[in-house]
Amino acid sequence: MTHADNAAQPPLDLNTLRQQARQHLDQGAVTADYPAHRLEVIAQLNTALATELVCSLRYRYHHFMARGIHSQTVGQEFLVHANEELEHADWLAERIVQLGGQPDFSPDTLLGRSHAEYVRGETLGDMIRENLVAERIGIDSYRHLIRSLQDQDPTTRRLLERILAVEEGHADELADLLQQVPPNLLPTPRPALLAQ
Ligand SMILES: [Fe+2]
Ligand SMILES: [Fe+2]
Repeated sequence: MTHADNAAQPPLDLNTLRQQARQHLDQGAVTADYPAHRLEVIAQLNTALATELVCSLRYRYHHFMARGIHSQTVGQEFLVHANEELEHADWLAERIVQLGGQPDFSPDTLLGRSHAEYVRGETLGDMIRENLVAERIGIDSYRHLIRSLQDQDPTTRRLLERILAVEEGHADELADLLQQVPPNLLPTPRPALLAQ
């Protein structure tokens, strides 16, 4: 918003403000002045929620499947990320409810609604790479959503910025791990049994 926009904004009418606040009390935090397209914001947040849940499941699977000499550090990192993705899902669901929507946790449509994929990978290097790809998808998705919100919903925007910062940290950590772990040297255990 420019200085000229600020100057053009009419002064706050206190009586109107107080009257509007008394209407539609059942809508809670959603007031008459909410300028964003609420249903569209809820739909976008539900897409982000599905993405976080898929990422959390993929990380958790990788945590249990990580094997080899690097498995202690990498597998532990996968668990930390899995729990943080689930925390993000909780934050998104809470905001969806505040906006008068319903968080969609339906497992039967989860993967189709997620931006990130659920790729298992065969080696520890595969797992790290797939998680890094998913983080980069998440980062671009959050940046796009933040840009589209502009200044219309600062609370949702701050929430998304907070999550984005964590995803950037995840991607940075995974890029470091990818440097340390030879991509093809560490097969997951008992590949013969897994193939049966
Ligand atoms: Fe996340
Ligand atoms: Fe992440």
